[in-house]
Amino acid sequence: MASSIAPAPLSAQASGPLTGRIRVPGDKSISHRSLMLGTLAVGTTEIDGLLESADVLATAAAMRALGATVTRSEDGRWRVAGVGVGGLLEPTAPLDFGNAGTGCRLALGLVGTHHIAVTAVGDASLSGRPMGRVLAPLRLMGAEAIARQGDRLPLTIRGAKTPTPISYRLPVASAQVKSAVLLAALNTPGTTTVIEPVATRDHTERMLEGFGATLSITTDADGVRTIRIDGPVELSPQSVTVPCDPSSAAFPIVAALLVPGSDLTIEAVLLNPTRTGLITTLQEMGGDLVIENERLSGGERVGDLRVRASKLTGITVPPERAPSMIDEYPVLAVAAAFAEGETVMHGLEELRVKESDRLAAVAAGLSANRVEHETGPDWLVVRGRRGSVGGGRVTTHLDHRIAMSFLVMGMAADAAVSVDDTAMIDTSFPGFTALMEGLGARFATPDPVA
Ligand code: S3P
Repeated sequence: MASSIAPAPLSAQASGPLTGRIRVPGDKSISHRSLMLGTLAVGTTEIDGLLESADVLATAAAMRALGATVTRSEDGRWRVAGVGVGGLLEPTAPLDFGNAGTGCRLALGLVGTHHIAVTAVGDASLSGRPMGRVLAPLRLMGAEAIARQGDRLPLTIRGAKTPTPISYRLPVASAQVKSAVLLAALNTPGTTTVIEPVATRDHTERMLEGFGATLSITTDADGVRTIRIDGPVELSPQSVTVPCDPSSAAFPIVAALLVPGSDLTIEAVLLNPTRTGLITTLQEMGGDLVIENERLSGGERVGDLRVRASKLTGITVPPERAPSMIDEYPVLAVAAAFAEGETVMHGLEELRVKESDRLAAVAAGLSANRVEHETGPDWLVVRGRRGSVGGGRVTTHLDHRIAMSFLVMGMAADAAVSVDDTAMIDTSFPGFTALMEGLGARFATPDPVA
């Protein structure tokens, strides 16, 4: 897991133009879910394009420990022989989720309504993140959990013997919390209802329907979504094709917008509207970002993104867009550092509880690289192009997106930008440095700090 790997610092210098066509790895959210739903189906689910990153491999190991047979064939296709809803086995050792909030929180949902005991552990980053947000609804459904102070890992959960259906209004805009409750509902007799005041990524709903579950989903005039599911549910195995991850595509997209002369196409990127906030935002900033060859793949909309270097202008990002680009604010802050004028971002409270306190980590990285900005509890204002950018060393706090964002900054900066660690990039984007170097990035091991 990321915590046990020696830190690998790296610096990035101004890059030549990024050109050609690339693909980024499979979507992390869909990869976790395909392994979990495969585990809950009776029969064999086949998965093409699974993201083979540390986070997802931790979920594969967890599903094995819960009774599924998870294998990978030579051609890269994964197969999950599931145990069925109600059939999870008690693991003989703690489940190690590494750096992965999604893997851990969704798996707690699975276990929450199976009468087994599971101990969950993770790396230093995951052990600092709040789990109470999923334990609260699971306790209402009858699960018992003992966690470290503040509902942090390590924790032990014993799933409910007789699960109770609940009606749960999400107190935070979180697809992970929504998904944990929906997964718990599968083994709960009766109607479980999740009320989502602000729409978040809807992969769990879409994939559950794909695996044969019936959901009732309504959206009122204010955009409040009500999702109902009647349990227990039997799931049928599926053939899943995982589209390329827009949250990973974000890094070459921003690099190509910022590096003069770039003209890059990123193929087959997931364009689910609950994930495309960054694309909309960069287009509003003046980014030449065109979607080509839009099509359906495995029930999801995908397209090729053609990105050409552009002069960006700061904008105010509507706060209600935050859930559709929640993982993309660090790299948006980097784009904003090179945009003319102010980029104003509100509604960022959830950034405080990601793999790191991303608002603080971004602000510190901007300061280290001489970018004018201001920040508050849930907002960030970046004032771009006020002087030369770069020259700083960024602390990543085991956060893959902080590392990748500031390496992208270095590719467009006046002086090199270095990050203290890149080992954890493997949690979401294996091959990131090689892919970017193939496009012209100039990465090097920085001199040790005195
Ligand atoms: C995810 C949901 C988001 C996101 C994370 C993946 C998911 O987290 O940040 O990277 O797959 O459901 P929250 O649900 O905590 O917002």
